[in-house]
Amino acid sequence: MMEQECKQYLNQMVQHKQGFIRMADLIQLTFKILMKFTYGRDMTADELQELLDLRALVESLIGDTFSNPFVKFPLYKYMRTSTNRKLAQFEKRWLLFNKRRQERFAKGKFRDTSCVFYKLQQTLAKNPGALSEDEFEQTLEEASLANVDITCGAVAWLLFHVALHKDVQKNLTVEVKNSISRGLSEPLSLETLTKLDLLGKVVKELARKRPVMVISTPEYVTCPMVIGNFQSPPGVEVSVDNSAVNSNTGVWGDTETFNPRRFDDETPNMRKSLCRFGIGPRRCMGYRVADTFMKVLLVTLLENYSVALETDVTGDDDSVPVQKVGPFCFPCVDFKVQVAQKNVTS
Ligand code: HEM
Repeated sequence: MMEQECKQYLNQMVQHKQGFIRMADLIQLTFKILMKFTYGRDMTADELQELLDLRALVESLIGDTFSNPFVKFPLYKYMRTSTNRKLAQFEKRWLLFNKRRQERFAKGKFRDTSCVFYKLQQTLAKNPGALSEDEFEQTLEEASLANVDITCGAVAWLLFHVALHKDVQKNLTVEVKNSISRGLSEPLSLETLTKLDLLGKVVKELARKRPVMVISTPEYVTCPMVIGNFQSPPGVEVSVDNSAVNSNTGVWGDTETFNPRRFDDETPNMRKSLCRFGIGPRRCMGYRVADTFMKVLLVTLLENYSVALETDVTGDDDSVPVQKVGPFCFPCVDFKVQVAQKNVTS
């Protein structure tokens, strides 16, 4: 599904938009992929539109959560605020949307049996008490709407670095073209993706250099704790500065340079120090989906096209226009995709 969507998307961008890709276009692709991953490949245009409207509500609610310090207080949910009205509206429409799909599943009319929704329904059919209705609704939201922005941000940083660092793009193109010899109708397999060594390193290095989530979600300390040189009494909220950890020169050496090859000699310290998807039992549940999407997009891109930056940046980090939303940071740049010359091989 991902490969087909990425191919279609790139083709459309080249045919109808002269190859120009803006953030809004990338959001559309990310949105479609995550929705189809959750609700199935056979989603209709109307269903996608309904989800798009719901996403606008979620986006605004996420913005409120990070800009309004009062939302986390227990009493806030009883107040008559615009955020609470939006939340109530979202919950009602979200429930209806999922109820309609549950009915389709119950009637045996669900065709894509590999999507998250189908698998959840199967589990619930075998074990009805596994999730409460609230947990069910929230799980689906986390798997789809809630992660569009963060995933799109990571994809944008990936394209940014590949477009900016022409030498990396050239080497990646060679790796992609040399390692993937497949027929036109042969789908890209996970096995093939994992064999692409430089691709994996580029994806890790972009997360190190530009983590989309600049600081981690705050968590309360439950007992007195000493973390490095910091002492935290219980009740204090602690966040990890992902950018600072990812650019600790003691671990990474030269942190300014975008250098995927630093992972050729990956030390255990580097492995532990890369802040990307969180750590421990609350680690990101969608990390494989996000990683696979980024890799599939890059492979389908470099197999046939090249990508350049349309926004002037010097390479110096401060010259890159960014958008900050709560703990997220995205590049605000435009890209241009062009059909590649045929002779890029080793
Ligand atoms: C590059 C894109 C993504 C990044 C950088 C990212 C990062 C994160 C981080 C840092 C956390 C918090 C972990 C913690 O609190 O320790 C998280 C949680 C989570 N993510 Fe992602 N995420 C991405 C994409 C996705 C996608 C595509 C999905 C779903 C398909 C997803 C599903 C989740 C879920 C369900 C949680 C909550 C886990 C829990 O609390 O148990 N994420 N993510």
